[in-house]
Formats: sequence, C-alpha cells, structure tokens
Amino acid sequence: MTEQDFAVPLETPKYYHPDPRYREHSWIGDYGEVYRRFLNDPLLFWKERAAEIEWFEPFDEVMEWEFPYCRWYLNGKLNVTTNCIDRHVRDGRANKVALFWRGEQGEEKAYTYSQLLRNVCAFANALKRIGVQKGDRVCIYMPVVPEQVIAMLACARIGAVHTVVFGGFGVHALNQRIRDSGSRVVITSDVSMRRGKEIQLKPIVEEAVVNAPSVEAIIVHRRSTPGVELHSEIELDFYEILEKESNTCEPEVMDAEDPLFLLYTSGTTGSPKGIIHACGGYAVGTQYTTKYVLDIKDDDVYWCTADPGWITGHSYVVYGPLLNGATVFLTETTPDFPDPGIWWKLIRDYGVTVFYTAPTAIRMFMRVGEHWPDRYDLSSLRILASVGEPLNPEAFEWFYHHIGRDRCPIVDTWWQTETGMHMITTMVGEPMRPGFAGKPIPGVMADVVDMDGKPVEPGNGGYLVIKHPWPSMMRSVYNNDERYRQYWTTIDRLYTATDLAVKGHDGNIMVIGRADDLIIVAGHNIGTAEVESALVSHEAVAEAAVIGVPDPVKGNQIKAFVILRDGYGGSDRLKSDLRYHVRMTVGPIAMPSEIKYMDSLPKTRSGKIMRRVLKAQELGMDPGDTSTLED
Ligand code: WTA
Repeated sequence: MTEQDFAVPLETPKYYHPDPRYREHSWIGDYGEVYRRFLNDPLLFWKERAAEIEWFEPFDEVMEWEFPYCRWYLNGKLNVTTNCIDRHVRDGRANKVALFWRGEQGEEKAYTYSQLLRNVCAFANALKRIGVQKGDRVCIYMPVVPEQVIAMLACARIGAVHTVVFGGFGVHALNQRIRDSGSRVVITSDVSMRRGKEIQLKPIVEEAVVNAPSVEAIIVHRRSTPGVELHSEIELDFYEILEKESNTCEPEVMDAEDPLFLLYTSGTTGSPKGIIHACGGYAVGTQYTTKYVLDIKDDDVYWCTADPGWITGHSYVVYGPLLNGATVFLTETTPDFPDPGIWWKLIRDYGVTVFYTAPTAIRMFMRVGEHWPDRYDLSSLRILASVGEPLNPEAFEWFYHHIGRDRCPIVDTWWQTETGMHMITTMVGEPMRPGFAGKPIPGVMADVVDMDGKPVEPGNGGYLVIKHPWPSMMRSVYNNDERYRQYWTTIDRLYTATDLAVKGHDGNIMVIGRADDLIIVAGHNIGTAEVESALVSHEAVAEAAVIGVPDPVKGNQIKAFVILRDGYGGSDRLKSDLRYHVRMTVGPIAMPSEIKYMDSLPKTRSGKIMRRVLKAQELGMDPGDTSTLED
C-alpha cells in the first residue's frame, strides 16, 4: 500500500465527552496546557518526569542525541526493581496487594508488596547461585502465572537481561530467540492451562534447547500433579532453589543505559528482531504513562489482559503499574472459558477499576452478545483502555455502551514494542473520537508524513512518524544494528513506525494499519517471513507466500499460498499437515486459516514475492503498480 491508496472521508466528526470530573481529578489535568509546556522545553519535561523515579545516583544530563542513537539520563544509576517494589514497601504500602492472580481453574493467589519483594529477592539469589551475572541473558517461557513476573523482576534485580518469549510460541520460534539472545538459562513451567486443558511446555523447551549451546540450566516451575520429572544434569525446580535462599538481595546498581530486557518482535523479512530497552529511560517512560495515560490511583484495581510475554505485558502489566505501586490483577483465564461472561465476572469479583484490553477481544464479545456483560455489575469500572490494533468505531461504541455503561472514558493507546511506552492516545478527560486513537501524549512529537517526510494534508493518508527521541525508545536491535538504523533512515531522519495513518483537522490521528507485510492476527504481530519459512521447512513445500485477509473478529487471518515440490499432490490431508507444521514450529497464533495450492507466485524481476498482488487478487482490488512484476 502507498499513501495514495486511500484517503479517509472525514465526515462531521462525532465526539464523546467524558464527565468533566474526569479531567478535574486526573493526573494529567489540562492536556493542551501540559503539551504546550512540553513543547516549550522538551528536556525539562523529561527531567521532571525522571524525578518521579528513585535514583541511586543522579544523572548529569537528560539526553545525548547522536543520530540515530540516543542516550538518556547520562550516568544516572538505579535499579528498576527497587522502584517497583522496595520503594513502596518503605512508603507504607508493604501490606498493599501488588498482585492478584487467578488461575483458569479458579485458583487464587495474592502477593503483597512485601511478599513480592521476598520472592523476587530469593529467586534473584537463586539465579546468582547458579552463576547468572549482570548482563547475562535469561529466557523466560512461561504461562501467565505470578512466577513469570517474579522471574522477570529477579533478573532485573541482579542486572540480568530477560528475554520473555510468549508461551504460545512453538519450538522453532523459541529456539531462534534463545539462540539469538545467547540465553544462559531458560525458565519455564511444566504446563500452561488453556480452556481446561494442560498444554505441555517442557517438551517444547527440551526440543528448543537442542542446538542452543549457550543454555546451561533450565528452571522448571512445576504446577501439575504428579510433578514432571526433571533431568538432574541441567534442570532445576523453581521453588526448590528459591526456598533455599535468603529473601533479601542487594539490588545491582545499574547505569541508566544498561539493558533491562530484550523482547523479540516479528519482522517482515529475516528473523525476529531483539528489541533492546534500557533501564533508566524505560522506567521513566512506563512510570509516566501508566500514571498519566491510564490515570492509575492508589486505590485502583488494575487489569491489563495482555500476556506479560508481549510488550504490553512488560510495560503495562509488570513494570509501569508496579513502578506506580498499583494493585495488579493477573489471570491465565481466556475470555471465553468456561463461558464468555468470565471476564465480566472477574471485574465484578475483584472490583476492577481500570481495564485495559484489545480490540480483537472486544469484537469477540460483540459477537457473542451483550447479554453476557449485562448480567454483571460493572460499576467498579472507572477507565477503559485498548491497544494492539485500530479500535474500529463499532467496537468503540460497544465497549463504551456495554462495558463502560456510557460513563467510562476509553483510552485507545497507540504504541509499539520499539517505543516501549504509549505514544498516541486520547488522554483521560479529553473528547474522544471513535476510530481515532487520539493525539501525541505530552513528551511525544508525532506526525503523518509522505515518503519525503513532508506532513500530509489533514484527511490524507501517510506514514506515522515520531519526530523527536523519547526516553523509552529502543536502543538498538540485538545483533542487528543495521536494522535499527533503518527505523530512522527510511523517512528523512524520522522514526518510522511502519504504520499508515490519517490526521484529522482536529489533530486526532487515525491509525489505519501496517504499511509493511506484518500481519496482526488477534492483536499478535505475525511476520510473513516466519510463517513462510515454517512452510518451506516442510518437505512437501517448494515455495510459500502468506498474506493477511480481513477477519471480522481477529482483525486479520492468515492465508497461505504454496507451491508444492515435484511428486507431492495437493490434498486436504496435506493442508492439515502444513497447518500443524506451522503450529509446531512458530506456534498456534501463526497457523494459516486457509491454504491454497499454486503453480506460480507473483514475483518481481529480482525474485521477491509480491504479496501485494496476491492480496489484491484475493480481495478483488486493484493491485496497483505492477511494472516490476516478472510476467
Ligand atoms: C498496532 C503493541 C492501531 C500498530 C503495543 C503497531 C495499533 C503495532 C494500536 C505494534 C492502536 C498498536 N491503534 N494500531 N491503538 N496499538 N497498534 O509491537 O500497527 O506488538 O505498529 O506493540 O500494533 O505492535 P506491538
């Protein structure tokens, strides 16, 4: 798609106006005023934000920009976990609940801030005991359990760099991430629970560490009974090693620029990119946005439905909320098991006040009907939020009326793994325009431009860019600095988000979707390259191309086109084989919904598959410029 391919008719805008008390009582106050103050002196703005974090040693400069590299809070020293935990224990929140957890079978657990501190410290000591040192990479491949959060924070405590891999990824995807990161330790659970069934994770890890020579130990959190057996040479039990340790652990003194974590995100070509985030800027950015965008207050019960395995989970289940001393609700529960009322029941039972979810979930609930939420008292809710893909006007309206009961503001947050924190949204208290994410938050300069970096006229499509660095921006792509540079060099020294967008006359930004071949399926980013290489790794496949086709609930679904090798006949049986093969290599989230056998694929003369042409054929659209097409 190019910017000329679409233009959005901007009919008379429709707004929803929140009760003025929201603005009065919000942390942000008057958005316009705060934004002007930011523009006036961006570095002063970010210096003030950094004062909300506790530093062991103050920084001497807010930032240093050496295109395209940026360093923030120079020579400042901190530990993110003392900010997430110790500080609140000291400040009178020792007995406040940090984490409520509810398992799929109805099991419940709660950790106060002081309990969380003891667990994190003990597990940090255990990691040290097996030889993990500052700077070492540790891979975490777990379901949504408190131990996942404890493992992340324990790494941060001792300066180890965690790389969390979503528990729904398969063997090959996990292996790739372990190898690229050079992880010394893998932390996993024996099983994850999904819709009443146990899904075995440990066998996936066992296979994924073959050909991963960096791995010296596997720590297994055993939840099923009887417990799985451990291979004593390399496998350790999570609680056995934790319980042997003291529950105090001196925090490692980290430089603001030391890496906090690596998180892999799919690309359209090649292997997934290990996005690097740094301690200081990431802590400042996520603390700030959790407080001012999600407007978290001390007595809130906050629930973000994302898995900590994705960036939303890192920034807005774990780090941001804990930096603010919030009470976080965490659950392994899927939205429709045992029935599609379960999430509303949980909101009622836990008194959730701030609820953050994804458009794909909202559309699923729309489909099953409002009689599900209607059964529950949702009056505890104060603020709703959305992330992951465009919140289409129909989904906005449904969320607003049936969940927010016409009372709660909806904060539609646009951001990315690479940005680390929220970038564009409608701040609490501002008028909301369905279909539009909103405006850049104070601290962020964003615009919609053409390929030359020139702002496009309101109402026309263009590329979404960020014009000025921000503290929680990625520092690089692990083992691939060139890929990092591309983010800043594709469009005139601006950060390219690779999203297409339209700016309205009112300054609100509508995000249309990806400008590249990344496919967002149910809020998960799937790289075309990952699925295609999984397909061609099957003995029957010679070539493959995948595209996203619109789906009313998931946003997109994956359609694959394959050319078979000589000697293989295209059967339905083979189709299910291929789908299973993708499931096992990349994971269930990447399974094509449909597979079509082809004799040839449209290619450029240089041999690149033109997915755009396949997509146009599929949707009955004009394929656009095909002058580079082979024949
Ligand atoms: C998309 C998730 C429209 C977008 C935080 C972006 C959105 C990609 C929104 C990043 C939103 C995220 N409206 N689109 N509110 N939020 N996206 O790295 O295409 O998993 O580039 O980060 O999701 O996905 P990622």
